[in-house]
Amino acid sequence: MKLTLSVPLLLSTLVASKSFLFGNQQQPLVDDSLSVPGDNPLSFCANPSDYILTIEKVDLDPNPPEKGKALQIKAKGNFTQKIEQDAYINLSVKYGLITLINTQADLCEQMKEVDESCPLEGAKDFTKDVTLPKQIPRGTYTVLADVYTKTDVQITCLRAIVHFS
Ligand SMILES: *[C@@H]1O[C@H](CO)[C@@H](O)[C@H](O)[C@H]1NC(C)=O
Ligand SMILES: *[C@@H]1O[C@H](CO)[C@@H](O)[C@H](O)[C@H]1NC(C)=O
Repeated sequence: MKLTLSVPLLLSTLVASKSFLFGNQQQPLVDDSLSVPGDNPLSFCANPSDYILTIEKVDLDPNPPEKGKALQIKAKGNFTQKIEQDAYINLSVKYGLITLINTQADLCEQMKEVDESCPLEGAKDFTKDVTLPKQIPRGTYTVLADVYTKTDVQITCLRAIVHFS
């Protein structure tokens, strides 16, 4: 199966409602202290102080996003070290317990979607408009995006639990 990945896809897949994460669930599956700053449903996988990418904030409009509607993503961060070619994203998406996607994508390639290219360094600011598909099967999606340099130094790691009703 050929999978086409893009930053918008990645971000839109990472999108979820905080009220779902912390409201409807019997137990919070994501540690609140690891929340990504801004109006978004993202969490860091671990303490982000060791990550190369410092995320200042990510804002989604609307948050939570809606199926079949436009979504604007605004992100601001700082690559505290230079990111060269062959940095990669290990991405997995699960639907319930079923793994839908477990793949590796090229970070530099993906950044072209937001008009950026490698080497990446310093402060970055981007806005991206995407449309979420109408036909997203209802259910709970777990998304993990683990991002590394060519030499396996962690750039960032983000996760989300996404519920579409
Ligand atoms: C980005 O990170 C570098 C390296 O740590 C730092 O020198 C610089 O001041 C930071 N820039 C911003 C805008 O935070
Ligand atoms: C990323 O995924 C590849 C392929 O599945 C795997 O071999 C590699 O160990 C993963 N990298 C990390 C740092 O987890």
